[in-house]
Amino acid sequence: MLAIIGGSGLTELAGLVTTGRQVVRTPYGEPSGPITFGRIGGGEVAFLARHGYGHTLAPHEINYRANLWALREKGVTRVLSICTVGGIAAALGPGTLVVPHQIIDYTWGRKSTYHEGAGQPVVHVDFTHPYCEATRALVLAAAAEAGVAAVDRGTYAATQGPRLETAAEIDRLERDGADLVGMTGMPEAALARELGLPYAALAVVANAAAGRGASGDAISLARIEAVLGEAMGRVRRVAEKVVERHGRP
Ligand code: HPA
Repeated sequence: MLAIIGGSGLTELAGLVTTGRQVVRTPYGEPSGPITFGRIGGGEVAFLARHGYGHTLAPHEINYRANLWALREKGVTRVLSICTVGGIAAALGPGTLVVPHQIIDYTWGRKSTYHEGAGQPVVHVDFTHPYCEATRALVLAAAAEAGVAAVDRGTYAATQGPRLETAAEIDRLERDGADLVGMTGMPEAALARELGLPYAALAVVANAAAGRGASGDAISLARIEAVLGEAMGRVRRVAEKVVERHGRP
């Protein structure tokens, strides 16, 4: 079964026929909320709102370990993350959808591994290619089928938040090679890898990153809401096609 972890602006899926909802407890604590199970066009899906259904969890407060553990426990075999980002590269303007292929992690102090604690062996997982290529290809094919433009590849910088970045920090991220900046991409991707769950992201550019384009003087939260309001219709269409394609024999 495919899971969708919905980010800001996506707390439900329109075409979803709900078949159940479950609160799952894990050895790592509580997930962000109950998991909603359902079907879209013949495909099964488990949906989890990353920030909680009332959007009450900040990026650094999310229990990423519990979220992925709960999904796997419920039979999930592939994960699509929907996330909102700031665009650093000029070509990635507000409203652009991107399927990133690389990550640079600037987060700190988050519980970022399952392999810790007394008596636990040290485990190093390979993370050369942080996203699953087959899942990225599935998302890109679903977007094409839905008639929605999506950019293939981009390097995602994961920042701690919850504050937005300074203009100088964005300059630094660009020098590092980042195209997009968001706050929830890590440790989610790494934890999925530790659990052996194929994982990819569909990132929605909500705004030009700090100091860039229309965000030259400040990032307008009102404008972000307007952009997401429009873009989430496209995101939903892609997400629903991903579920359908994943469910096809
Ligand atoms: N920076 C970090 N995270 C974000 C941004 C941003 O500009 N926009 C949406 N999520």
